[in-house]
Amino acid sequence: SDRYCVIGNPIGHSKSPAIHALFARQTGEDLVYEARLAPLDGFAAAVRAFAAAGGRGANVTVPFKEEAFRLCDAHSDRARLAGAVNTLSFADGRIVGDNTDGAGLVRDLVFNLKTPLAGRRVLLLGAGGAARGALGPILEREPEAVVIANRTAARAEDLALHFAEVGPVRGCGFADLTGESFDVVVNATAASLAGEVPPLPEGVFSPDALAYDMMYGKGDTAFLAHARRLGVARLADGLGMLVEQAAEAFFVWRGVRPDTLPVLAALRAA
Ligand code: ATR
Repeated sequence: SDRYCVIGNPIGHSKSPAIHALFARQTGEDLVYEARLAPLDGFAAAVRAFAAAGGRGANVTVPFKEEAFRLCDAHSDRARLAGAVNTLSFADGRIVGDNTDGAGLVRDLVFNLKTPLAGRRVLLLGAGGAARGALGPILEREPEAVVIANRTAARAEDLALHFAEVGPVRGCGFADLTGESFDVVVNATAASLAGEVPPLPEGVFSPDALAYDMMYGKGDTAFLAHARRLGVARLADGLGMLVEQAAEAFFVWRGVRPDTLPVLAALRAA
């Protein structure tokens, strides 16, 4: 069997091994996929050890995606734009980096949730790594406008500048959203981790808006609970994005695209 893994810290609760095991069974690909914990100061050593032991590729998760970018000998265009890598491929002693997170988000929105982005107004909350990874694939879908809103407005403005050539995007603080409304609102902040919700002015959700949280957990995240209280029409957590970014990584490695819907259904049922 070909060997793959996910490397992170912490890694104990990762669903990636289960997802890739389901993909492998479904497609008949002969591979094994494990979770590996790297010490906070030992990411590069963990990658090299896995490659030396015959590993063919690895996913990278929190907090190593930017370090993974720096470790790679070559990058896909989308990884370069994101400045972060979540998918490594090992070949001929080289490490090639890709980023499937943004593609996974967009696939979940467009295919699973039937929420086209073309011509729509998209609000992206947060200006960290998660937001940066999402921007390229979102802008590729030709939305009417993307607004990045962040607690630290300057970070959102910098990020918008970085993507100015890719499509119509601007950055601001949360309070600057007053009077604007959006068809799709994606939470890419870490606020849900603390049970907090970005302070959004009333009216940012258009009447048939989708509220999407990149996070997921048992029940609603803090952001989705807030959107539900406001009566937002459609809600989705990030479990679909997780499965779709995994499918995209599987495709990068194996050239085969798994059917994600039964895998997502199995995770929801578990
Ligand atoms: P990630 O890679 O997960 O995006 P990050 O780069 O640390 O992590 O970025 C975290 C994001 O969540 C940032 O946009 C951060 O806002 P600041 O840039 O102002 O720090 C945002 N964030 C974290 N906690 C938050 C909170 N309680 N309320 C609102 N935004 C929060």
